[in-house]
Amino acid sequence: MYFGLSQRAAHNSVQVSPWNAVESVMANLWATDKPDGLVFLGVAENTLLHQQVAARANKNAAVNTSDHLSYGVGPRASPRLKKALVPFFNSEFRPSEPVLQKELLVLPGVAAAIDALTWAICNESEGIITPAPFYTGFKPMSALRAGGVLIPAPFKSVEGYRGLDDVFDPDMNRKALEKTLLQATQDGITVRAVLISNPHNPLGRCYATNVTPFVSVLGAGLDECIDSHLVHVMHGMGKDFCATGLRLGVLHSTNEGLIAAVSSISVFGWVPYVVQDVWADMLEDEQFLGDFKLENRKVLAKHFTILRSFLDQHNIPYYSNVHAGVFVWVDLRRYLHGNSAPEPATSAVNVNHDQEVKLFKRFLRAGVVLGWYRISFAVEEQALNLGLQRLGTCLKSIENDGWEN
Ligand SMILES: Cc1ncc(COP(=O)(O)O)c(C=O)c1O
Repeated sequence: MYFGLSQRAAHNSVQVSPWNAVESVMANLWATDKPDGLVFLGVAENTLLHQQVAARANKNAAVNTSDHLSYGVGPRASPRLKKALVPFFNSEFRPSEPVLQKELLVLPGVAAAIDALTWAICNESEGIITPAPFYTGFKPMSALRAGGVLIPAPFKSVEGYRGLDDVFDPDMNRKALEKTLLQATQDGITVRAVLISNPHNPLGRCYATNVTPFVSVLGAGLDECIDSHLVHVMHGMGKDFCATGLRLGVLHSTNEGLIAAVSSISVFGWVPYVVQDVWADMLEDEQFLGDFKLENRKVLAKHFTILRSFLDQHNIPYYSNVHAGVFVWVDLRRYLHGNSAPEPATSAVNVNHDQEVKLFKRFLRAGVVLGWYRISFAVEEQALNLGLQRLGTCLKSIENDGWEN
């Protein structure tokens, strides 16, 4: 069959894609009136304050003829959102130099920002190193359009490795990154960047420095290590504001060349003005921001406790030095069996117990770091309890009946 595709499109078209599985999971999701539906604890989303976000957006966002229906100022950001982002960045990320409007570009989510940054920094097949374990989305986001190559920097093979805490240790970072850089260079890959997520995904912990509390790379005093023009920051509304679906992200850079480069393609990632207003409206209201943050922390802590109690009760190890994020990195290696080849888990099935156990086994074998899984806890309490109860039943089945049954 001739599809008439370019080489790059043909290459992408045969990569494993998550969307079929996501679509079938979402079509069969648990709800109080759909008790047999699937509970999805695999995605890094925070739905806990959806009601508050929706209420706020519904009250204040309405399509208007002056700002929302025309091309306006173009794709780089609405003047209102840019203005609202500046004090937010300055108070939230405590930069050593105040952030300026001209240093910001709004894009549809951090995914789009990673794609745009990779495109602007890397030539075809050039590398970006990221500490491992890493957020699995980094790979497709840097590769599928921009043609970058994500290179994980493993810590396990670094001399003196003690455990996952080393991922936050400056000296171990230096060793892991240097070793990976050396290997990549020997493999003929030109490395152009290091990509770090704070809080770390999947470990759910923020980086820290020995000298001052680390808030963000913007205030970390990196002048001795790197030219600040080469440090770029991405932030998204999705996680902190419980709105992954609004697709809002922002790229900050003091590098005029980089901003000009990303501006040149920003028309392809233009966030509708009406959506930009939803975020601007929240950012402009300090009282709302403060209350929202407090409430978010409270509910996240409660849901984290539910997951942690489940893991403790079932004697399941996990990375426990966690204080941020919406997930926990869980060690299910003892449930793995043998060394059968991993099967890609690309489709979901309807739920009944046997199928659920089979499905779960398939996911177990298909882990990115074999045996380790990220379980999200920021879902509605009843769904979280049910999902964990089902997970417990599956694990017990595997323990009692063995892998082959
Ligand atoms: C580290 C990291 N980067 C990027 C993304 C994608 O974010 P967005 O929904 O803003 O595109 C995620 C989402 O899970 C993430 O965890």
